[in-house]
Amino acid sequence: MTVMERLLLGATLVLGFAGAAGAETLTAGSVVLELPLGLQASSAYIPDDNVPTPERVALGRLLYFDQRLSGDGTISCATCHDPQHGFAEPRKTSTGIGGQVGGRNAPTVVNRLFSAEQFWDGRADDLEAQALGPLVNPIEMGMTSHAVVADVVRGIPGYAPLFEKAFGSMTVTIERIGHAIASYERTVWSGNSPYDRHQNGDVGAMSEAARRGLVLFGGKANCVTCHAGFNFTDESYHNLGVGMAATKPDLGRHDVTKADADQGAFKTPTLREIAHSGPYMHDGSLGTLMEVVELYDRGGEQNPWLSKEMRPLGLTAEERRDLVAFLEALSGEVSGTERPTAFPN
Ligand code: HEC
Ligand code: HEC
Repeated sequence: MTVMERLLLGATLVLGFAGAAGAETLTAGSVVLELPLGLQASSAYIPDDNVPTPERVALGRLLYFDQRLSGDGTISCATCHDPQHGFAEPRKTSTGIGGQVGGRNAPTVVNRLFSAEQFWDGRADDLEAQALGPLVNPIEMGMTSHAVVADVVRGIPGYAPLFEKAFGSMTVTIERIGHAIASYERTVWSGNSPYDRHQNGDVGAMSEAARRGLVLFGGKANCVTCHAGFNFTDESYHNLGVGMAATKPDLGRHDVTKADADQGAFKTPTLREIAHSGPYMHDGSLGTLMEVVELYDRGGEQNPWLSKEMRPLGLTAEERRDLVAFLEALSGEVSGTERPTAFPN
């Protein structure tokens, strides 16, 4: 077996879980994806022209982890979206090439299959478009242009046969690079958490504290208004007041829509793997889940654009701990975490 065949074989395995009872299967073109327990196939977003075949996923995984796609060869997507940190980063805000520090915290890449719009402000329409941004962002991967990225990949002969398998010809284009990376990302899932097993009828799957937290989450604490559904997001934008006191606040969604009401609004993130993906919020300003719960308990940070859903909750100390216990029960089985052991040359 060649290295490449082994890599492809590895990817085929990535596409499936052991098929727990109650888990859903998603069919896209000729590809069947076995989702972990708790994730809903009907909510998946896959563009017609980019079905995640095992070959595309395998290629995308290599590109995702390959540091040669950065200006100084030190940064890959996985640097900031690290499988060991819930596919996010353990830093307040991102550090790209040459140690340059950006202004936002890297969100998790898990369960992107279920979202069209990407980024904290939703400025990318899909994962395909999103993937091309960081490659040429001067303080992230710092390549001078998309043409240069394609040239670098073209200059590694071992990639050509993988493009042929994934796309039908050896031609390396920036669009194909984006499509392959997006395909891999669509197979990075988190499910089968204690919460999912609880929902599936396993009464002992969550601790008592987490069970009380679940009731608070959907009731007194009002979290479910925005963190709705199986992926814990309404895919919408809200102002919690985080960072609004800064001299020059990050206006978030407003940069995209220019609508006054969107000032300081950011996308509701998924809460899956949340115990592993801190620090929290678009600016990484909150270090622990307890600090997050305390922010909500005081009704967010006052500012003229604060969401109407934000109000003091009057939680007791035990209720705050229960909510944290519930959030910790959202860590489950994560797919796609394996770093490639070899890269094409
Ligand atoms: C230097 C760190 C860094 C690198 C390298 C990086 N990212 Fe990101 N990523 C971020 C930050 C920060 C954000 C949030 C930026 C924003 O919202 O404006 C982000 C956002 C995202 C999102 C949006 C997630 C969501 O919930 O909306 C995805 C998907 C993503 N990155 C994938 C990638 C891929 C694929 C690569 C490699 C091609 C990559 N990133 C490289 C830091 C990084
Ligand atoms: C009004 C909508 C809304 C409500 C209500 C809400 N959230 Fe959020 N949540 C958001 C948004 C939007 C963000 C990101 C805000 C930012 O970065 O500025 C967020 C961020 C978070 C984060 C950090 C996620 C990360 O990846 O950094 C956690 C944890 C969280 N919320 C938990 C909760 C809990 C627990 C509750 C109930 C007590 C709750 N949320 C209620 C919209 C909401």
